[in-house]
Parts: sequence; C-alpha cells; structure tokens
Amino acid sequence: MRTPAIILNFKTYAQVDGDGALSLARICEEVQAETGASIIICPPMVELSRVAHEVKVPVFAQSVDLWETSARTGHTTLSSVKAAGATGILINHSENRRGMADIEALITACREEGLTTIVCTNNINASRAAAAMGPDFVAMEPPELIGGDISVTTANPGIVRDTVEAVGEITSDVRVLTGAGVKNAGDIKVALELGTVGVLLASGVVKADDPRAVLMKMAVGLVQ
Ligand code: G3P
Repeated sequence: MRTPAIILNFKTYAQVDGDGALSLARICEEVQAETGASIIICPPMVELSRVAHEVKVPVFAQSVDLWETSARTGHTTLSSVKAAGATGILINHSENRRGMADIEALITACREEGLTTIVCTNNINASRAAAAMGPDFVAMEPPELIGGDISVTTANPGIVRDTVEAVGEITSDVRVLTGAGVKNAGDIKVALELGTVGVLLASGVVKADDPRAVLMKMAVGLVQ
C-alpha cells in the first residue's frame, strides 16, 4: 500500500448499496488519477468483486469471517475475498471486533496469502498489542468519534501522537493510520503531522452531498 494514503471505508451505508458502490469507486478512481494520491477503497462485501474488477483502485475487504476454507454457510473466507480481487483486509474494525487469537491468526494467514493487513484499534494499549502481532498497519480510531463531526485529530491529537510513539516502541515495521470523524484536508494534514501515514475514513465522503468534491480536496491536500 502506497503511503501517505486515504483509506475510504464505504461501510454499509445506503448510499453504496448496489450501483452506488461502483459509482463511488469510479469517483475514487478519477480522483486518484487526477491527483496521484494513494486511495484505497473498502466497498460493501457483496460489491467487492464487481468493484475490484471495474476500477483501478486498490480494493480491501471490510472483514473476513474465516481464514480456512470449510463447509460453512453465510461466511466470507479469506480465499474468497482474495479471489474477488481484494489486495488487503481491515481486521477488527470497531463495528466488527475480533478476539486477540483470531486477529493474530488472520494476520498470519493474510501474510501467507500476500494480503495487506490493517488492524483497527480503539486506544494506545490495543494499538501496542496489535503492533506486536505484526500487521502492516494499525489504524487507531476512538469509537466515540466514529461517524461524528469532530475529527480525532481535533478532539484528541494526543492519542494519535502517543499511539505512533507506542507502536514505534514495539516495532518499526508497523505503520500507523488514524481515523474517526475525519472530514477534510486539514484533518488529514494534522494526522500526517502527528506521525501517521494516512487516514481511515467513511462518513465524511460516503455521506457527503458531493463526494467527489470532498474527496478531491482531501486528495489534493494529501499530495501537497
Ligand atoms: O472505517 C472508518 C471509520 O470507522 C471512521 O468512520 O465515519 O468517522 O469517518 P468516520
């Protein structure tokens, strides 16, 4: 994953149901092409394959349920998201938490499959624990700020700075992202100044009246 980066999690908002996912993905593709900014997208799981095959933007899965293939019903496997075109995975998102043992097993399985891993965490201690498991990235997002109007970089810049420091004390191989409430280029600038290599965001773009305009300003800011 090229950094600094904007990772746009489409979540399961109504705006990205059906064709909405592909429309937003095409906007991301255009903005990436026009600005050169690194944009990674996480479409709804049912749209993953279609989006990955239609646009030239790296696509990550929002989650997976299983990392070994077996006879199960209604689950999403690691091999299936890879086959669908995903090149990375969000693990332990605040809205889809996993246990420690599962997180570690998933990181190991992704490494074997050549998939990039972003482990989401909610605070500094969880970030330390996640970093010790050796993912590619830790994305620290205070849950109470997710989906809100105040960016983590404004509400609590200290927790971002301290997370970067804490992860750095564990390993220099794991890079830090942050997110929650990120809405504009200014928020991203502060996130980078605090030592992260990018942001994980959703509502600021997905729910915007003009997602293209909002994302364009963010992308221009990212590459400046
Ligand atoms: O996955 C990104 C997310 O949890 C942050 O969401 O809406 O606060 O940008 P949002």
